[in-house]
Amino acid sequence: MAPTGLQREAKMPARRVSIARAEPTADEAKAGSITELREAAKSCRRCPLWRDATQTVFGEGPDDAQVVFVGEQPGDQEDLAGKPFVGPAGRVFDAILDDAGVDRQKVYVTNAVKHFKFEPRGKRRIHSKPNAGEIQACRWWIDQEFDLIKPNIAVALGATAATSLLGKAVPVMKMRGQVIEREDGLRVFVTIHPSLILRIREPADKQAERDRFLDDMRKVKRLMAA
Ligand code: URA
Repeated sequence: MAPTGLQREAKMPARRVSIARAEPTADEAKAGSITELREAAKSCRRCPLWRDATQTVFGEGPDDAQVVFVGEQPGDQEDLAGKPFVGPAGRVFDAILDDAGVDRQKVYVTNAVKHFKFEPRGKRRIHSKPNAGEIQACRWWIDQEFDLIKPNIAVALGATAATSLLGKAVPVMKMRGQVIEREDGLRVFVTIHPSLILRIREPADKQAERDRFLDDMRKVKRLMAA
């Protein structure tokens, strides 16, 4: 069958990947609902990141959302608020979703890693990238979020999310805009993390990156219903 315009546009599906699920620890059972899962995640000790973080920052949004956005890990403000994407990157993300006509209240937003990892520097806490072990440990939660929500599409915001969702490190810039289909049928749209836009200093480059991300979000909006 000839690919549809949307399949051509989003290069869908580029390939099919299989990934190994995270194993439960001795005292863990699968949750029956997102509410139960969120409650269980509050006492997560699957990796050492809980020790320094304020709290588990679990996903938020309707439990029947058509799309699940996956970020890297909570930042400083998210760690304090207990909510994903409420800091500077979250504000950029919200504004671009709005421009794309995607209602944040109707989507589910979560992170690959659910505790803030940081290095203390004076009074500040500087974001530190989660490693492969921490990403894999947290797969226990994200796999269940997907099992319960069953969205039409997952959006990997950046490299950590793509690693979590695809089971291996992938070149995000090369794969940006592609939809990868997992063996379990989940379609994963790969794009950048919105914090990249924040880090660009040169105004024209910043605007160009924002425009590209907006274009990605417009594609996601079309894929949500497809
Ligand atoms: N960056 C993320 O990846 N997630 C958040 O929740 C906030 C910033």
